[in-house]
Amino acid sequence: MSSVATVTKLAGLLPPDVARLARGNLRRIVLRMVSCCQCEGIAAQFGSKTARRELRRFRRRGPHRSTQVLIDGLRAEANAGASLLDIGGGVGAIHHTLIDGGASDATHVDVSDDYIAAAREEAARRGHADRLRFVHGDFVQLAAGLSEADIVTLDRVICCYPDMELLVGRAADKTRRLFGAVYPRNTALMRFAVRAINVLLRARRTAFRVFVHSPARIDDVLRQHGLDRIERQRTMVWEIVVYGRRGR
Ligand SMILES: C[S@@+](CC[C@H](N)C(=O)[O-])C[C@H]1O[C@@H](n2cnc3c(N)ncnc32)[C@H](O)[C@@H]1O
Repeated sequence: MSSVATVTKLAGLLPPDVARLARGNLRRIVLRMVSCCQCEGIAAQFGSKTARRELRRFRRRGPHRSTQVLIDGLRAEANAGASLLDIGGGVGAIHHTLIDGGASDATHVDVSDDYIAAAREEAARRGHADRLRFVHGDFVQLAAGLSEADIVTLDRVICCYPDMELLVGRAADKTRRLFGAVYPRNTALMRFAVRAINVLLRARRTAFRVFVHSPARIDDVLRQHGLDRIERQRTMVWEIVVYGRRGR
């Protein structure tokens, strides 16, 4: 049973009012502790070997297919000189491509300093390092100190983080115009694959886990934070979405 489920079950032994309060607060505290361990796991999972391999792949073949679909959905707005906030940008496929195409500047927040080092190296190679700012750490913890951007992206990041509501909600709050994300589809095949991956990760005693968060819940959170869906595309594995700020 997960830590969150254990807390929920224990709260059932308390009087109803106290239980409701305890459930909410304890759930939040446990999720924060789990998120903290998860961030150590993320940094280890996306270490220097993975970062070097991913950078070599990006230089040879360009963005992954799902990332390219997301870039295409954001390109028109980005090319008009938009600012970007790329959360968990990895080697920086989104911001390198969009800055080369006309975006004004980008902030890249990442838990992995090895991925930041790779993205920084690529920015220097492309000659646009002066338009990039790198911030190392967990976006959820750092969000209050970060500026809004015209375009905010979470490309294959939601599946790394246990508390989807916090991650997506805070990312949405930083979005002035467009929000783009890529996350796993909630299909039986994906749920099975992710369960198998997590069994392997547990056997290797790493803290990192993969999550399939409900796309309907992700949509709810984004709508609650003032964003409406403009575009949705699917591959066998990924759902790729673009949302726009309501009333703009
Ligand atoms: C699967 S990789 C995806 C990288 C890139 N966006 C892509 O699609 O190629 C996940 C990335 O998200 C970062 N990450 C995960 N959770 C994060 C968080 N809460 N704050 C900042 N970065 C995070 C990881 O360090 C890693 O760079």
